[in-house]
Amino acid sequence: MTDRIVLAYSGGLDTSVAIGWIAEATGAEVVAVAVDVGQGGESLETVRQRALDCGAVEAYVADARDEFAEQYCMATLKANGLYMDSYPLVSAISRPIISKHLVAAAQQFGASTVAHGCTGKGNDQVRFEVSIQTLGPELKCIAPVRDLALTREKAIEYAERHQLPIETTKSNPFSIDQNVWGRAVETGFLEDIWNSPTKDVYDYTEDPAFPPAPDVATITFEAGVPVAIDGATVTPLEAIYQLNRRAGAQGIGRIDIVEDRLVGIKSREIYEAPGAMALIAAHQELENVTLEREQARFKKTVDQRWTELVYDGQWFSPLKKNLDTFIEATQTHVSGEIRLELHGGRATVQGRKSATSLYDFNLATYDEGDAFDQSSAPGFIDIYGLSSKVASQREERLYGKPDLSGHGIGTQ
Ligand code: ARG
Repeated sequence: MTDRIVLAYSGGLDTSVAIGWIAEATGAEVVAVAVDVGQGGESLETVRQRALDCGAVEAYVADARDEFAEQYCMATLKANGLYMDSYPLVSAISRPIISKHLVAAAQQFGASTVAHGCTGKGNDQVRFEVSIQTLGPELKCIAPVRDLALTREKAIEYAERHQLPIETTKSNPFSIDQNVWGRAVETGFLEDIWNSPTKDVYDYTEDPAFPPAPDVATITFEAGVPVAIDGATVTPLEAIYQLNRRAGAQGIGRIDIVEDRLVGIKSREIYEAPGAMALIAAHQELENVTLEREQARFKKTVDQRWTELVYDGQWFSPLKKNLDTFIEATQTHVSGEIRLELHGGRATVQGRKSATSLYDFNLATYDEGDAFDQSSAPGFIDIYGLSSKVASQREERLYGKPDLSGHGIGTQ
């Protein structure tokens, strides 16, 4: 039987050419698999038909939008996942779900190999192949751009020569990856890190410098997940779509960073993630009022480690799963409402309400009815500061009185 290769198919020029390119280079039959993670654009049926027209023996398309929102975006929200404190893992979380569908398709169609359109310089090749190896250890991986010398020029030439039903003239200087959680744009003049992004870089967001009137959104969470906006029930996918639109109109969620790739390169990337950034702002604040102090502090460390593992392609790894368990356990009481003002590039928390809040008005108030016993504070401070005081008494014994002049206090 002829060998089969499952190709992660986007419907664009490179992967359309890859169908024939892989078949010619390997002698295998190519099965195209397209996974909808909310990237927008053409219908799945159009994409499926194009794959067949480009020579795929089978084309399989999956609407994975709800699965992506519920299991990948919501996990990222619960972890407040921001790589290098800024990037909400847009591409990093789409690779594992696409890989899952690729492995399932490989098994269904009897393929020995999975192919993807990534280059050999980025994170995404690692994310795909580590995920595929983990979920389908029997499968081989191949990347035509990296392994079969499929350059852009050759792709254009090939598409024209074979009259593939795909646009080759539309020149886009950028490399773009997008889904419902956000959009990533790199290359072109952005590679000079002194250059400002121009207007044409953006698609999910309007210019925050000229915002419409402020928009107030009240988001209801249950166990860390948005369940309603302004009182109307929403699914996770609907919540992200709605906030992409409303926060996007206010120019919220534009990110411009030089980021550390797993492969050792620093690269400049522009992101747009209006819904994700609004949701993370709201979720973080709800955690502030519902998580106990030590739990909240420790969770920050876990969140960061979780984010690094996901960025680094370890979505299906044991440690990532263990951290999921911890994060999930912290979300039990992360329920309530957050009122956000969306305006001029910022999502600002203005109100919080939660039946499971740890905020105690009677403890916090400076007004009448204060339940906090202030007379116990001096004793607490004596004991709390004792170890530092004992150490300073030793310094004085050895070196004399602390020097209170100059920049630092204490002995030099
Ligand atoms: N640098 C980002 C990441 O590694 C995004 C890569 C997506 N690709 C792109 N063409 N911008 O997650």
